[in-house]
Amino acid sequence: MARLIRHEATGPQEVKPGEQSAWVCMCGLSQNYPFCDGSHKKARQEEPGKLYCYNRERTEVTEVKADQ
Ligand code: FES
Repeated sequence: MARLIRHEATGPQEVKPGEQSAWVCMCGLSQNYPFCDGSHKKARQEEPGKLYCYNRERTEVTEVKADQ
């Protein structure tokens, strides 16, 4: 079984469980999930209304097919 997850956020969310802040990844690209590692910078030049897939590089998705 495979799963595609869509993230629309392009930056982290600050949370303050105590005295110090932590930055939670909202873009889905962090290699240190659930914490932000700065990888969201890859999403800076995404165009609104377009869908992208991140593997080694960013590619624009034009069609999604699902096996049944
Ligand atoms: S928000 Fe995902 S890496 Fe920063």
